[in-house]
Amino acid sequence: MRYESIAVHGGKEEDSGKRAVNYPIYLSSTFAQPGLDQFQEFAYTRGGNPTRSHVERLAADLEGAQYGLALASGMAATSLVFGLLRQGDKVLINNNVYGGTWRYVSNIFSNHGIEYEVVSDFNNYDFSNTASNVKMIFIETPSNPLLEITDIRKVSQEARKRGILTVVDNTFLTSYFQRPMELGADIVVYSATKYYAGHSDILAGLVILNQEELYLKLKFLQNTYGGILSPTDAFLLTRGIKTLSLRLDKHQKNALLAAQYLKRHKAVKDVYYPGLKSHKNYDIQRSQATGDGGVLSLRLNDGWDSKRFTANLKIFDLAVSLGGVESLICHPATMTHESYAPELQEKIGIDSKLLRLSIGIEHEEDILEDISSALKKAKL
Ligand SMILES: Cc1ncc(COP(=O)(O)O)c(C=O)c1O
Repeated sequence: MRYESIAVHGGKEEDSGKRAVNYPIYLSSTFAQPGLDQFQEFAYTRGGNPTRSHVERLAADLEGAQYGLALASGMAATSLVFGLLRQGDKVLINNNVYGGTWRYVSNIFSNHGIEYEVVSDFNNYDFSNTASNVKMIFIETPSNPLLEITDIRKVSQEARKRGILTVVDNTFLTSYFQRPMELGADIVVYSATKYYAGHSDILAGLVILNQEELYLKLKFLQNTYGGILSPTDAFLLTRGIKTLSLRLDKHQKNALLAAQYLKRHKAVKDVYYPGLKSHKNYDIQRSQATGDGGVLSLRLNDGWDSKRFTANLKIFDLAVSLGGVESLICHPATMTHESYAPELQEKIGIDSKLLRLSIGIEHEEDILEDISSALKKAKL
């Protein structure tokens, strides 16, 4: 089956024999066992639940992978993967990752004796001096909020030579547009809160991988930490996935039009969107992804006011998050990336002028008209 068909039919296993076309929600914390020395697949929902297993298989199928794990949020997924690290290990991470990931790295690693190094440009990074305690490279590509692109093939190849795990946060593109494991990565993590679920109604996280030994470790941690996806949210995630390709095609179409419009507008100083030919890593993006997603960031020129622009948008709500059907705008410096110290924000470009748009699936003309009219009103 092809991607769109797997999204509708994947992950299925025979259930109770009632032939429901939707996989049911098993709202049961515990499961009866046949006998004292006979245990069935499911025992207790923290360890496994049929509705969760279904979406885990579905997400793995979509990625062409062996294993999936579903967690209560994207951060639960990232934390689970960081749970593989031991005292003395070191992690390399790209310099603009989601604020919650940075909060973890900059606050929690030191409690566990884990070191980290922030890499400003993996594409030109010299791996020859990589310290022997580097055990993981964590990259977010496209990155949040600056839409920087990291060459997954190159990083994975260098990492593999040195026995280092490559983990990719693929939230912005999903397996519909980018398959990091096919490019050499070991583990893919997602905030499935975003495009996979797609309707801004649940939080969810996914970890996808192929290596059995790693999967068993992560499955053990999933049951031990307990941050699992609930059966009801697993059902909603499954439902969201069925329309993922349709939504993403529309998000992307609208986002490219918005990016091109903003790029031409005199009010706009910078636009960051990997689908624009002017993006500094346009070629790398073309070589590893089949699409560019629905998120873009921008800065207005002097003479136009960001607050007025934001306040005058009618279609875009001012809210964190992305990947839902509705368009949103946010101010990363104070909203999604406030965990970065102000000096660091300034250094890497998450300054007070940066705005991030999550372009929804509304009619493209309505989106462009809304942006155009808000820009007019933003003139000082
Ligand atoms: C790229 C990225 N990774 C991870 C997360 C964390 O996901 P969640 O909010 O589902 O915990 C987010 C949330 O915005 C994100 O944008």
